[in-house]
Amino acid sequence: MDHRTFLVLAFLFSNTVSQFVPPFTEDCRTAMYPPSGPTFRGAVRWYTVDLDLPPSKRWAPLIAERKNDLVSMIQAIKDMANAFVPSGRLIELVDIALPLMADTLPSPFGEEIKGIADASGVPLGEVVLFNIFYEVFTVCTSVVAEDSKGNLLHGRNLDFGLFLGWDVKNKSWTISEKLKPLVVNLDFKKNNQTVFKSTNFAGYVGMLTGIKPHMFTLTMNERFSLDGGYIGILEWILGQRDGMWMSFLTRTVLEKANSYEEAKKLLAETKLLAPAYFILGGNQTGQGCIITRSRTLSIDVLEIDPKLDRWYVLETNYDHWKEPFFLDDRRTPAMRCMNQTTQTNISVSTLYDMLSTKPMLNKLTTYTTLMQVSEGKLESYIRDCPNPCMPW
Ligand SMILES: *[C@@H]1O[C@H](CO)[C@@H](O)[C@H](O)[C@H]1NC(C)=O
Ligand SMILES: *[C@@H]1O[C@H](CO)[C@@H](O)[C@H](O)[C@H]1NC(C)=O
Ligand SMILES: *[C@@H]1O[C@H](CO)[C@@H](O)[C@H](O)[C@H]1NC(C)=O
Ligand SMILES: *[C@@H]1O[C@H](CO)[C@@H](O)[C@H](O)[C@H]1NC(C)=O
Ligand SMILES: *[C@@H]1O[C@H](CO)[C@@H](O)[C@H](O)[C@H]1NC(C)=O
Repeated sequence: MDHRTFLVLAFLFSNTVSQFVPPFTEDCRTAMYPPSGPTFRGAVRWYTVDLDLPPSKRWAPLIAERKNDLVSMIQAIKDMANAFVPSGRLIELVDIALPLMADTLPSPFGEEIKGIADASGVPLGEVVLFNIFYEVFTVCTSVVAEDSKGNLLHGRNLDFGLFLGWDVKNKSWTISEKLKPLVVNLDFKKNNQTVFKSTNFAGYVGMLTGIKPHMFTLTMNERFSLDGGYIGILEWILGQRDGMWMSFLTRTVLEKANSYEEAKKLLAETKLLAPAYFILGGNQTGQGCIITRSRTLSIDVLEIDPKLDRWYVLETNYDHWKEPFFLDDRRTPAMRCMNQTTQTNISVSTLYDMLSTKPMLNKLTTYTTLMQVSEGKLESYIRDCPNPCMPW
């Protein structure tokens, strides 16, 4: 049994199962775009991050505006930690031990995190914790599709906060709710020119979703696996630091790679702290793939293949060659909607329809991002999943 299966079962046993009776799925949604109505919480604001500034100063303008949301999120994490270990000792440990970790993080990440702590007034250890958090609790749906003209489209739902405090009254996840106000779109510039763009959370320096305009698009999904899950992170804390944080690699690739092939090579070959899925789209026909990673190896690369009529590749949180856990099958309904849409009719609008269908849309879904590489365009929307809705 893997880690995620365990969490889902633990959740079911700790709650009244009766509120989650099937159907978990619905008919594929249509005409949801442009976003409106009860599944659309709001638009996402744009900020510029100036890469010509020293790392410690880059995030200050964004944090100045979003400080209160960040403080409120970190308070929620602390409340949860204190509910878990009531003496307050866990947070005490975070405040003592994790600031040291900021110095072990590769450049520019350590300096950026310190800059965020300074700008927000949040203790450094807690900002470090916030930045590690995403490496652990992210579950998602990502897809790269090629339309019949050869344009590549990339869509994703970012689902976050599994098992982090189910609010029985509100039927919502405390942490997922706190995260929504932190969703931002970022335009990373050098010499006043866009290098890459990303949907992100204020206060977080890694990347989970991004585009290098006219070159490639990239998302990362968590891979639950016993070969490493958290062992790599633990090793890092204990001093063995030869792997890379997954979301730091994603950001480095967005910043440094200058083609789909170069991005693919870096994502496949760089040693990681934990397993992951990278979903990469390029800028010409056939360029779309899911890279399934262990800590050290690329285990499998599944590519779009027009000759085989494989016009899209889709990833949730399970290896594509295995059956998903039956209580968490977002892959089958997502593929059903993609197949119903057909390659002729795939577009940003129909991709949004698919990502708006339950259970791809669920109580963990914080945002939906849609990217078109040829236009250099990234758009994102904060989401809600009105009841009845699956918790994941
Ligand atoms: C429950 O949801 C409502 C509306 O979304 C919100 O205002 C309230 O703060 C939530 N309560 C808790 C305890 O999170
Ligand atoms: C940066 O570019 C924008 C438009 O792309 C322009 O309006 C602005 O003046 C430029 N700023 C500098 C400092 O060159
Ligand atoms: C696709 O990316 C390559 C490598 O970066 C670039 O040379 C080429 O111009 C791009 N093609 C398009 C159509 O943007
Ligand atoms: C969708 O189509 C693909 C390719 O034809 C097929 O392998 C897959 O089983 C289909 N899935 C569903 C759920 O319809
Ligand atoms: C694709 O779109 C066309 C034009 O809107 C429509 O006539 C057709 O029924 C659609 N096909 C599918 C499979 O939905």
